Amino acid sequence: MLQIGDEVVHFSAVFLLVMVVTRSATGASLFTAFLYVFMVMFRFPPVPADQARRVLRPRAPSGGVPVVAHRGGSHDAPENTLAASKNRATGVELDLSFTADGVAILMHDETVDRTTNGSGAVGKLQFVQLKRLDAAARHRLKDKFSGETVPTLQEAVEECIRHQLIIFFDVRGQPDKAASVLHEMYERFPVLYNSSIVSSFEPKVIYKMRQTDPKVVTALTHRPWRLSHFGDGTPRTLSMRDQLWTGLLDILLDWAHHHILWKLCGVSAILVHKDFISLDYVHYWAERGVEVVGWTVNTAVEKNYYQNLLKIGYITDSLLEDCEPHY
Ligand SMILES: *[C@@H]1O[C@H](CO)[C@@H](O)[C@H](O)[C@H]1NC(C)=O
Ligand SMILES: *[C@@H]1O[C@H](CO)[C@@H](O)[C@H](O)[C@H]1NC(C)=O
Repeated sequence: MLQIGDEVVHFSAVFLLVMVVTRSATGASLFTAFLYVFMVMFRFPPVPADQARRVLRPRAPSGGVPVVAHRGGSHDAPENTLAASKNRATGVELDLSFTADGVAILMHDETVDRTTNGSGAVGKLQFVQLKRLDAAARHRLKDKFSGETVPTLQEAVEECIRHQLIIFFDVRGQPDKAASVLHEMYERFPVLYNSSIVSSFEPKVIYKMRQTDPKVVTALTHRPWRLSHFGDGTPRTLSMRDQLWTGLLDILLDWAHHHILWKLCGVSAILVHKDFISLDYVHYWAERGVEVVGWTVNTAVEKNYYQNLLKIGYITDSLLEDCEPHY
């Protein structure tokens, strides 16, 4: 849904800003015109609304809002493993990663240290080495899940399709590789067009995905102040100068997400940190045909708020009990 009023306001704001900075009406006009043409020429239209709806508003088992298990439901079962798929979630969020020999697997961190009994960077391990590791080794329920291995992307996809779970593919980097591997999955399992979404903090990952396969449902992930602060709210750097600089970048990025990047990429949803979502915020996006999904919603009180007041889907670490958030 294109908001004509929106566009006039944004381009006027850009024009004024450039004019104030450069003090040149010609320069500001040219820049604004360039930006407009760029947007029209290079943006991807979103997928049809009914397709996005099938992915983002499937009928939840409980009749409530969709509930997505973060990293497969990492509190209830070992992170990003297939054990996690057997709870009552509407869907699962899975993290795409690659081994040294280029096999697409599921792993959140850059190293295997936190979740398995191995050590070292995922990208430096051969697939056969990785497959020998115990993916439940560091989990609080490791005895219950012993023998769990790191799944390949394809194993995870097949398991999710079998359980009729919606998949949120979270992609952290490597846009070209990720887009080509995921595109292959969509071709092999076309049901994914109706049952999965590709999300990333990196707009270029989403842009590349839509460029490779415009039929894929996508989402941008966003957390205000992400560049200057960690997920728990502490500053990333102690230097005042760096804090100011990253804070300024955060403001620009936030503006770009809300006014340019979502439209350029043609996303169907925005996945936002739970502390920054209000009813007004949900309405803002609804008017633009974009769904908001909150993360990571881990307490009964918060779940109740999402279910009954915001009435939007959320991503959680546990479907069973309250737990600490993992960012
Ligand atoms: C990790 O655990 C698996 C399964 O118990 C075992 O076969 C493997 O040797 C262990 N690897 C390391 C590096 O300890
Ligand atoms: C997606 O679902 C619609 C409606 O059920 C169906 O017509 C379409 O063929 C499905 N697409 C794929 C790729 O399965």
